[in-house]
Amino acid sequence: MKPLNIGMIGYGFMGRAHSNAFRKVNNFFPLQHQVVLKAACGRDGAKTAAFANTWGYQSVETDWKALIAREDIDVIDIAAPNNVHAEIAIAAAKAGKMILCEKPLGMNGAEALTMVKAIEKAKVANMVWYNYRRIPAVTLAKQLIDEGKLGKIFHYRAKFLQDWTINADVPQGGPGTWRLDVSVAGSGVTGDLLAHCIDTAMWLNGSIDTVTGMTETFVKERAHALTGKKQKVGIDDASAFLARFSNGSLATFESTRYARGHKAQYTLEINGENGSIAWDLHDLHRLQYFDHRDGGLTRGWRSIHVTDGDQPYMKNWWVPGLAIGYEHSFVHQVADFIAGLESGKPAAPSFRDGLATDYVTDAVLKSAKTGRWEKVKKI
Ligand SMILES: NC(=O)c1ccc[n+]([C@@H]2O[C@H](COP(=O)([O-])OP(=O)(O)OC[C@H]3O[C@@H](n4cnc5c(N)ncnc54)[C@H](O)[C@@H]3O)[C@@H](O)[C@H]2O)c1
Repeated sequence: MKPLNIGMIGYGFMGRAHSNAFRKVNNFFPLQHQVVLKAACGRDGAKTAAFANTWGYQSVETDWKALIAREDIDVIDIAAPNNVHAEIAIAAAKAGKMILCEKPLGMNGAEALTMVKAIEKAKVANMVWYNYRRIPAVTLAKQLIDEGKLGKIFHYRAKFLQDWTINADVPQGGPGTWRLDVSVAGSGVTGDLLAHCIDTAMWLNGSIDTVTGMTETFVKERAHALTGKKQKVGIDDASAFLARFSNGSLATFESTRYARGHKAQYTLEINGENGSIAWDLHDLHRLQYFDHRDGGLTRGWRSIHVTDGDQPYMKNWWVPGLAIGYEHSFVHQVADFIAGLESGKPAAPSFRDGLATDYVTDAVLKSAKTGRWEKVKKI
């Protein structure tokens, strides 16, 4: 087997999720490449060394430029906050590395475009970690839609709700809470949570033409975690928008971190002429499906337990009926990325797909300011 040497940047939430996927993928998916955890990179040497030790990385770097300069690294994995994605990805592309980048691709569409240009010029393999596409129930939804089971699509609705920033004492900046600092995150829930909903939506239902949105920042000032100083909050705490897809369907999207009681409630629903599909991250292995062409007496919503061997990804795991979870979506993404290298058919979402999502979030944020419908830039 060919080694595939990973250089991981960041040892936080996603550093762990990706490392877990890299460690598991060869145990469950037949591939011609053997993933090697070559180096972990973070600015704090002791913390990075502890992370490397826990996950089995062979070496440690404290400067991502040194990591990129290493000849024994094939793939640069960017699991660091949004404000460093572009600089790292562009440098990695110039060095000829394959790149896996966390979402959102850039701080905004203009920045993401520079990243797309860099990887396309360097012709390096690339992918964005929009992992929800690879939850088996969501992948099954894609199959049913592509088979035409729903017929003409009328509506798409999605929401992603959390409740962890209601307390005004939650700081902005620093580990984890960098999401509340606009200079690091780029935007609030629009680029963070809605980006996931938008990526899945465009994958399932095609491109989005126009949007009209509204955003709100409920807590206007927060202390900065690193300086202790109170600063104006520049992110959107809540965001909702209407959209028109190119296929003529209408959509509603909503996200907030102020929905008391909801921790990570990502739901989506699609209504078509012949049927509907619904999915909920809190019950992630189930796909709800209604087929209007079923016989009238027994017609109704079916709750499909997506755990059988002929359902997406499941033959690689346990026996039928046994569920898998959140972390497996990352394993699937690595498996598909590597399978794409081997088949010559690159796995999606590419950087260009990530750019398309950034263009939608740009248009939503613009509309929230102008109060008008805004066109989404075409990629
Ligand atoms: N796909 C998903 O579902 C998902 C979920 C969470 C986060 N994310 C994305 O993943 C990225 C990281 O988020 P997270 O939740 O892991 O954040 P985190 O705060 O848990 O971890 C970030 C890591 O990046 C490191 N870092 C920061 N600046 C760095 C630099 N200049 N050089 C090297 N390392 C640096 C930090 O030390 C930390 O280890 C973000 O882009 C975020 O939007 C995606």
